[in-house]
Amino acid sequence: MITQDTISKIFDAAKVDEVIGDFVKLRRRGTNLLGLCPFHDEKTPSFSVSPSKGIFKCFGCGKGGNAVNFLMEHEHYTYPEALRYLAKKYNIEIEEKELTEEDKKEESEKDALFLLNSFAQKYFHEKLLESEEGKAIGITYFKERGYDKETIIKFGLGYNPGKWDDFARYALNNGYKKDHLLKSSLAKSKDSQLYDTFRGRVIFPIQNISGRILGFGARTLSSEKKIPKYINSAESEIYKKSKILYGIFFAKSSIVSNDNCYISEGYTDVISLHQAGIENVVASSGTSLTKEQIKLISRYTNNVTLLFDGDPAGIKAAFRGIDLILEEGLNVKIVLFPEGEDPDNYCRNHRAAEVKEFIENNAHDFITFKTNLLLEETGHDPVKKAGLIKEIANSIALIPDNIARSIYIQKCSTLLEIEEKLLYAEINKIRKHKFFKKQQERTQQQNIPEETTETKQFDNEIVSENSVEIKEKELVRIMLAYGDKDIMLDAVNEDNKPVVVPYNVRKIIVEDIENDNIELENTVCNKIFKELKEANDKNEILSEKHFFNHEDEEIKQLTIDLLSSKYNLSKKWESRHNIIVSNEEELLKKIVFEVLYDFKMQKLDKMILDNQKKMKEEAAEESKIEYLKTDKSLKDKRSYFARELSRIVIK
Ligand code: CTP
Ligand code: MN
Repeated sequence: MITQDTISKIFDAAKVDEVIGDFVKLRRRGTNLLGLCPFHDEKTPSFSVSPSKGIFKCFGCGKGGNAVNFLMEHEHYTYPEALRYLAKKYNIEIEEKELTEEDKKEESEKDALFLLNSFAQKYFHEKLLESEEGKAIGITYFKERGYDKETIIKFGLGYNPGKWDDFARYALNNGYKKDHLLKSSLAKSKDSQLYDTFRGRVIFPIQNISGRILGFGARTLSSEKKIPKYINSAESEIYKKSKILYGIFFAKSSIVSNDNCYISEGYTDVISLHQAGIENVVASSGTSLTKEQIKLISRYTNNVTLLFDGDPAGIKAAFRGIDLILEEGLNVKIVLFPEGEDPDNYCRNHRAAEVKEFIENNAHDFITFKTNLLLEETGHDPVKKAGLIKEIANSIALIPDNIARSIYIQKCSTLLEIEEKLLYAEINKIRKHKFFKKQQERTQQQNIPEETTETKQFDNEIVSENSVEIKEKELVRIMLAYGDKDIMLDAVNEDNKPVVVPYNVRKIIVEDIENDNIELENTVCNKIFKELKEANDKNEILSEKHFFNHEDEEIKQLTIDLLSSKYNLSKKWESRHNIIVSNEEELLKKIVFEVLYDFKMQKLDKMILDNQKKMKEEAAEESKIEYLKTDKSLKDKRSYFARELSRIVIK
């Protein structure tokens, strides 16, 4: 493991413009550098690199991060791989933490399995290409399936002849251990004699992201129904079925450049599509996707297209699994191949261009697809339709993004011929229910009181478009960008004489918000605010860099989004108000208070609404008076800030 010390050294040394400059042509534009974004197709540059902040940000596709993130994204490195790359570039010696004996054993065990697999792959591949049996049976089979030599070589396909223990013996003679042969399930043992697991089968090696071989799938050539069609490697230290996607190594760069991942069912679909020039495809290997597999895909794209053979029953069985993908925030499309055909068949019977065209023309977004499919079944039977609405609402409720959710609500209410409001209500009900269940579980686990700020936050999130959050973000942005600056404020000294004193921007905002006992609603904003507040209490300064390189991914992303605004703040402000403020400090003062008061007004608006809502629901007359009092005091506060604001904002 790389030590924290080394990691800090690497972060300090890495210059984001130099690192990215090795991959992207950058031109200086003011204090930043600009280039064509390597993550999406574009003709005019919107990819910006800020050397002073140490970050990049694309205003076209939204990708952003520090030098390490760039390498992970662009080169598909893992975190340690990216660090090693930078250490090499900047001549930094890597210090590694001593691994414990246990760690070492585990590492060497894994390495041994990888080595053995690689040895086995070479053996099977050679047997396919060179041996008589391989050529006569294996190659003939692949040729019949339409695979050309290039494809066979690219995927490292193989064949193990039908003999009893040829491979196992060969491996032992080459110094590989019995124990590892068994653990990798390349061999089995009977009466303490080893024999080959895959015999008389063609072999598909299964690679991980970086191309190392995790295991194998082996297909029988017989059409005998009793024999299992595929035998796969058993789970091992390195082969974990739930974490693997077949083909990811060959597909990853195409997934990025197409910003879409096709998911098929089998090894053969992946290979045939590749041969047809469609490379952004992986296979789930016949089972529904796991969370880990979805996470793996989402490192490369947010869009997946599921390729199904034309069997509606199969698709319906897959609905639950697809919901899992929605829940992870990915956009899901579905392509249904003609009855009885899978992508592999289809490739065999059509030209490459036709396959491409078919997929493009037949990709339907999942929710619409599901709605239509279920509608066909229920027609307008009112009882069944109620069930259908629930079913669709269940799927839509899973989508984390507010905007995407509301688009689907719109679309589906039209399809279902019901009022949008109705669908909204149903979905809110589901989300609320889920949320409270989760909350309850947490309460039970941690023994915390049930009514927390999150409960409140949830209501806001689903009930209205959250304009408070927009203001919160603006507020956090000011704190991040100008937090360590001072502005001059009027005050009185000990003798009650008016004086002007410098005040730190972050301090002003932190104390003001604290004073009003306001908790920020957006969880990420709140986390940042809390950190800034803690630093403020300790009289420490937290730089932008701290947040740009934050270990909490959400905090890092929000900071990048907030601080890489396309326009320089003062320009935006000046043009909006059509005034020129000569003095920078004077401008900052105006901005700070505008943003702060604006936020409070928004917050008060909401509190007023909430209070009125509660008043309506409350039946008891006597408590109405309390609500009215609250209403008045909130409104008074609001008009105070409105007045202050109009003083600041010169319209
Ligand atoms: N599978 C498996 N074991 C089986 C059947 C299927 O592991 N007994 C997995 C394999 O990964 C297979 C995928 O599920 O690729 C899809 O199954 P299927 O469509 O039956 O296989 P194909 O890959 O289409 O194989 P073929 O075209 O040769 O029939
Ligand atoms: Mn098939």
